[in-house]
Formats: sequence, C-alpha cells, structure tokens
Amino acid sequence: MKILVRPQKTPLTGTITVPGDKSISHRAVMLAAIANGRSHIRNWLPAGDTLATLAGIQSLGIQIEIDKKSPQAWDLQIEGKGLYGLQAPSSPLDCRNAGTFMRLMAGILAGQSFPSVLDGSGQLRKRPMRRIIDPLQQMGANITAQDGKAPLSIQPAELQGFEYQMTIASAQVKSAVLLAGLYARGMTCIVEAGPSRDHTERMLAAMNADIIWRDGVVELNGGRELWPLDLTVPGDISSAAFPMVAAAIVPHSQITIQNVGLNETRTGLLDMLRMMGASFTIENERTTGGEPAADLTVRFDELHAADISGEVVVRGIDEFPILTVAATQAAGETTVHDAAELRVKEVDRIGVLAAELRKMAVTMTEHPDGFTIVGPLRPYSAEVDSHDDHRLGMALAVAGLVTHGETMIHDAGCVSDSFPGFVETMQALGARMEWVE
Ligand code: S3P
Repeated sequence: MKILVRPQKTPLTGTITVPGDKSISHRAVMLAAIANGRSHIRNWLPAGDTLATLAGIQSLGIQIEIDKKSPQAWDLQIEGKGLYGLQAPSSPLDCRNAGTFMRLMAGILAGQSFPSVLDGSGQLRKRPMRRIIDPLQQMGANITAQDGKAPLSIQPAELQGFEYQMTIASAQVKSAVLLAGLYARGMTCIVEAGPSRDHTERMLAAMNADIIWRDGVVELNGGRELWPLDLTVPGDISSAAFPMVAAAIVPHSQITIQNVGLNETRTGLLDMLRMMGASFTIENERTTGGEPAADLTVRFDELHAADISGEVVVRGIDEFPILTVAATQAAGETTVHDAAELRVKEVDRIGVLAAELRKMAVTMTEHPDGFTIVGPLRPYSAEVDSHDDHRLGMALAVAGLVTHGETMIHDAGCVSDSFPGFVETMQALGARMEWVE
C-alpha cells in the first residue's frame, strides 16, 4: 500500500479523536492477563503492534472477549488467571514489530514455571535486547539470545529483587525489570537514568501492587496478587502528533483533538513545539484510567528554530520523525542532541529519515546523537519509503502537505502498526492524502 499526498492548498480544520495509547494498550493486556479476575478495557488500540500482544497473550491460555466498537477502538474483557495462571505456549510467541511486547513480556515470562521463546519480524530481530537481558539475568533469570538479539529463549528460574542503576532512560527496560519484580523475592529498586514514561507504575499501582515511585526511583515488592483493571485508554499523543504538526505548519489551520493522553512523561513534543513558537489550547482536563487527558487545540503559527536536548528528548522520543517536518518549516537552524536512542528504534530514525528527506531536497545533517535542519524550506515532490516504520511513513505523509508537488510514500501499510485510520483521520481534517494500491 502507498499513500499519495498532494500539496495542501486549504487550511486543515475540524475536530477529531485519535486511537488509544499504544503503550497503555500493550500494558493493559499483559497486566490484565496476570491479574486475579476479569478486567474491562475500553478504547483499546487494535493496531499491528498491539494485536501481536493480544495474540501472544491468547496463546498463553488467556480468554479475551472482544467488542469491535470501531476499526480504531475495541473494548476488551480479559479473564486474568493470576500471577501463576499462564499456560505454556505451544510455539514461540510472535511479537511481529512490537518491541514493547517483546521487552515487557520477557520480564513476565522470566518468572514463569515453563519455558518460552519470544521472536518477531526481521526488523525486531535487529533491535538491541541486551538492555533487558542483562538486568533480568542479574535477577536470576535464565534467558539466552544470540548476540543479544531476538529470538529470546527463556527457561524457568527463581528471581530475586535487586537494586538496578539504569544506564539509559528507557521505559521498556524499566518495565521489564518491574514486571519480573512481581515474581521476585524481596524488593526490586530501580534508579532511573532519566524520566521515562511511567504507565507501568501507574497501572500496577491501580492494580494494588506494592509499588512506589518518586524522583526517579521506583520500588516494588513482589508476590502480591493484582486486582483486575477497569480502564478507558486515552488517545495516543504519539498519534495525535501527526495531525498536530500538520495543523501547525499548514497556513491558517486550526484543529481540535479530543481526549489526548497528556501524561507529562509523554508531552515532550508540546514543549518542543512551544520552543518553536507554536501555541496550544488545552481544555476539558480530566483523568482516565489513572492517566491525565484533555482536548487539545492546535493552530497554524510561524515557527522558528530551537535547540533541543536534555530531558525533553526522552519525553518526546517517538515524536522526532514528525518534529523534523516541523523543523523544515521553522525559520533558522533547529538542532537536536542527546537523542542517540533514535538510532535503535524500528529503524535508525536519524540515518533513514535523513536519506528519505534528501529525496525531497531537504538537508538533514546527521550527528551521532541527533541532527540539524535549516528552514524554512519547501520540500520537493518525490517518491519516498517508510522502511516499514510507521512513524516515518506518517511523518513523510505530513511533509507531503507542504511540498511543491505530489509525494508518494511507498510501503505505507505499516502506519497501522500504531495508527489505524491515519489517512482517513487526516482526510477528515481536509488533508489531500489518499491510499493507492
Ligand atoms: C515505549 C517506550 C519507548 C518508546 C516506545 C514505547 C513503551 O521505548 O520509544 O515506542 O511503551 O514503554 P524505550 O523504552 O526503548 O525508550
């Protein structure tokens, strides 16, 4: 599938919602499976990545009733069987492209009394897993993997709590250790290297786990049974990011995105866009499923360049592909540092994006831990490729709105790994993009 984008001649306008948060949707299924009793999860995200988690959890003997409310939102009822109720899978769990499922599930499977294997797509097999294998092994887990890459083979082992000083700011690593901590004797204490998203901590607390976290230190005592979940997943700010930046750069646009999750460990993009001169209105602030959410209005602004580094980077780590598009429209030299993690995401999001933007005559100068873009400029019409990375596909599609001519994004079916209905949502705002075979 390809996405064809034409230069946007009219403002983007209207009110939309975006699908449920991917990080929360993954966690809700995994944690509900090991809770005691029936969990209810509304506005769950049925995307490529989270469907891998759903199928994986079903293959461990967990019953899930699905009510497909819409192609973008499912309601789930999950019959949790307690910490030790999972059944041995008959084949390796296929995580497809979902790094979150593989890394978090390794923590849960490390504490089971049966062996298991976690595997995934060619893309996932290239991503670093030593970052979870090392701390889990320090807890006593029996995990093997060739060259620190998937497939991961897990054998039963007794786990022991420990104090872990993290070396990278990563919610996936922190969460893998916390989930193993549920099965460990004694206390697991994590000292974070930076403020990564805290959805696992919030969800575990809502499920009555013995957990506290403050000032970058998380403490969890294992062994306590988990209560089932009753939650409505807020909209994913990492999906909202695409229409948000589109509205900020297409002249005279104004859009509202309802019910966006605004957990402050995830709002780095808002801060970065504010540094570039964008402004937002935040209304109807509320809490859903223990997470802050609100309606967000974004309007077109003349953007200017910013120097981006430090803690804001982790809080917006998934938003750099679309931030580069904002940078092409900002006056001056936008520089990003402290973002080396971008090189080990679905693809190397610095190197690959620089190569694709070059096809649109945009110069993105690479640094080992970031990039520089000088704007404002008008990208050229080109044929570009997502490299099977959902966020690169969507970022290139938004870039297409401000080019001189037509842009074709090849290999674009992957956008539904996180945002089913992306093109249709953009069309609802008047965007000139469409699917083509
Ligand atoms: C995620 C954490 C982040 C993020 C990823 C989802 C999560 O990865 O990039 O898309 O759900 O915990 P890292 O933990 O590797 O930074």
